Amino acid sequence: MTLRDAWESEADHWLAWARAPGHDSYWRFHRDRFLELLPEPAGLTLDVGCGEGRLARDMTKRGYEVTGLDASPTMIGHAQAADPGGDYRVADGASLPFVDASISLVIAFMSLQDMDDMEGAVHEAARVLAPGGRLCVALVHPINSAGRFESRTLDAPFVLRESYFHLRRYSIEVERDGLRMTFNSYHRPLQAYTAALASAGLLVERSAEVADSSAPPGDRWQRIPLFLHLRAIRAG
Ligand SMILES: C[S@@+](CC[C@H](N)C(=O)[O-])C[C@H]1O[C@@H](n2cnc3c(N)ncnc32)[C@H](O)[C@@H]1O
Repeated sequence: MTLRDAWESEADHWLAWARAPGHDSYWRFHRDRFLELLPEPAGLTLDVGCGEGRLARDMTKRGYEVTGLDASPTMIGHAQAADPGGDYRVADGASLPFVDASISLVIAFMSLQDMDDMEGAVHEAARVLAPGGRLCVALVHPINSAGRFESRTLDAPFVLRESYFHLRRYSIEVERDGLRMTFNSYHRPLQAYTAALASAGLLVERSAEVADSSAPPGDRWQRIPLFLHLRAIRAG
C-alpha cells in the first residue's frame, strides 16, 4: 500500500488524534515553534499535506491566506467542514495544481516524511514558489526515526539498531488516552532532505531542532530532538 493510501485509511483516527484538546505535541509545543519560523503574511500560502486543517485554520487567524492541499479525500472533507469559508483541495504534493512562480509561501508541516515521493514534492514546492518565496518544513527529526529509547525512564539509552543512512518505511502503532493511531512514514537521513532542497534550488536559511519543552526537566525527549524545522528560500 502506498503511504498516500495508508494515510487515507487512517484519516478518521487522525481526526480524533489531532483534534483532542492538548493530546498531540502540536498543541503542547510544536505549533508555536513552527509559527516563529514563518515569514510575515504576504500573498498566498499553500499548506501541503494539511490533513484535517488545524494549522491552516491557525494561520488564517494570524492573517495568512491559506489554501490547504492533501492527498486524502477524507482529510480534505474534514478540513472543509471545519472551515467552510476556507479553500481545501485534494492534491498530491508531487503534483501541485498551481502555475510556476505564483506562490510566496509553501509549508509542509509534518507531511514530507509521510509522502511516497518526497523529492517530487520538494521540487513542486520550488516550482510554484516565486523568487524569494519560502518553503517551511516540519519533520520527524531523522535521528528520532533512526532509533528509539530502550525504555521510558529519564536516563533510558537511545539506541540505533539499523543504519541511520538506510532509507526505510516504518509504521508505528500508538495508543494513548483511549485514542489509537498508526503513523506510516519513511525514515530518510537528513542528507536526503537537504539534497532534495539543493537540487530544487532552495537554500536553507534557518533551522531548529525541537525537543519536548513541555516535558519535566531531564525528560528523555529533552536529550534527543523530536522534530526538525527548516526554512528555505527560492533563489531569484
Ligand atoms: C502527520 S499528517 C499531518 C497533517 C497536518 N499537516 C497536521 O499537522 O495536522 C500527514 C499528512 O500528509 C498527507 N499526505 C501523505 N502523502 C501525501 C501526498 N503524496 N501528497 C499530499 N499529502 C500527503 C496525509 O494524508 C496526512 O494528512
